[in-house]
Amino acid sequence: MQAKEKIKQSLELSVTQITGNSPAGREIKLEHPAEEAHGDYSTNIAMTMFGNFKFEILNLKLNSPLEFAKAIVEQLEKNEELKDYVEKVEVAQPGFINFWLSKDALCQEMSLITEKGERYGSSDLGNGKTMVIDYSAPNVAKPFGIGHLRSTIIGQALYNLYKFLGWQTIGDNHLGDWGTQFGTLLYQITDKNLDPDTLDIEKLQELYVEFNTKSQENPDLKEEARLWFKKLEDGDVQARDIWKKVKDISLQEYERIYKLLGVEIDFAHGESFYETALDGIIEEYEQKEIAAEDQGALVIHFPNEEMTPAMLRKSDGASTYLTRDLATIEYRKNEWKPDLIAYEVGAEQELHFRQVFAAYRLLHPEDITKFVHIKHGLYLSPSGKKFSTRRGDIVRLEEVLEEAIERAQKLAHGGDGQAKAVGIGAIKYSLNQILFLIGRKCLF
Ligand code: ARG
Repeated sequence: MQAKEKIKQSLELSVTQITGNSPAGREIKLEHPAEEAHGDYSTNIAMTMFGNFKFEILNLKLNSPLEFAKAIVEQLEKNEELKDYVEKVEVAQPGFINFWLSKDALCQEMSLITEKGERYGSSDLGNGKTMVIDYSAPNVAKPFGIGHLRSTIIGQALYNLYKFLGWQTIGDNHLGDWGTQFGTLLYQITDKNLDPDTLDIEKLQELYVEFNTKSQENPDLKEEARLWFKKLEDGDVQARDIWKKVKDISLQEYERIYKLLGVEIDFAHGESFYETALDGIIEEYEQKEIAAEDQGALVIHFPNEEMTPAMLRKSDGASTYLTRDLATIEYRKNEWKPDLIAYEVGAEQELHFRQVFAAYRLLHPEDITKFVHIKHGLYLSPSGKKFSTRRGDIVRLEEVLEEAIERAQKLAHGGDGQAKAVGIGAIKYSLNQILFLIGRKCLF
């Protein structure tokens, strides 16, 4: 809003005139007070800055934040231009400055809203800049659980916001469609001689859980599963065929859910997409002596920071989640030349992303791409435990969405056709309050 910017500028000027120091833009916070009696906007700048400028202020005989606030208001009142926007300014204990907007300013804003319609609030702040956002990323062969809801909703909201601010935005769904868990499924499907065409997502989940129970009694099974993943990596036809079917079954389920949520992701390359690029990446790290052999595995040590070393290749030659993420960055850099790559992924992967970003920097010290891991928290079960796909205690997202719609229907006494929008909207709204909290410190 134009008036808000004007007030901020005038505050900055007034504080500078009084203290001789210009406050940083981020120090001037204008909030909407909860109560009307405190005006349309309110700032606590006199309180937050009083400590910083104590001496100068004391020389000026300003002995409290309240007196500082009064001095600021005195300066503001000399500002003729501000009068077009602000009708009244008041100081309140213990040092707030409250603003009431002028009718003119409000009318101007109203006509701007009418004029711009849905584009109201958009800007060209990001013109010429490109961002890639990595979000949603469920793991193939498992039902879409609530664990991936936050990433999906917050990721899509960030995508929309960046676009609205003029950035070129690219959404990429880094599907978990590769990795040792496929060894488990391949073992189960072949061992039980199942026809992959008859499988569905529930059955896949059941096979996965069953394997984890069986392998606790018989640890040799893990070795069998590992060998099946190796076969998949080596291009075994049967393994590939089953993998492809499993992936298709999962994608159908995800499509249904994305549609329900109104989420559309530009690309869904997934981890498997980078498979052929992995050897090249590993070689580069080896050649530049950034990675070294360690008990048969290939490991990156981080000389400049205290961080757990990262594994680039396991001792059996299999690639890792990290290797695939490094290959993904190379691809995204070549393909889209982004200024920013943001990952909307749970906080439990914090170490992983720190390792990925640091490993990438070791190979490309000159690169100035900004990387951000936007961390959201984990959903816990009512008893406070982590949900575990291994144990099979997952909450299916579809059930949550259905319940939200049902509840909305009840509220509308049988429904007026808006229940879906209200139910899904409520879920999105609650999640995007998190976005509001992380948004401030996050990106730009
Ligand atoms: N599939 C992963 C998981 O569920 C999330 C992937 C996040 N993105 C990434 N580039 N690693 O844990």
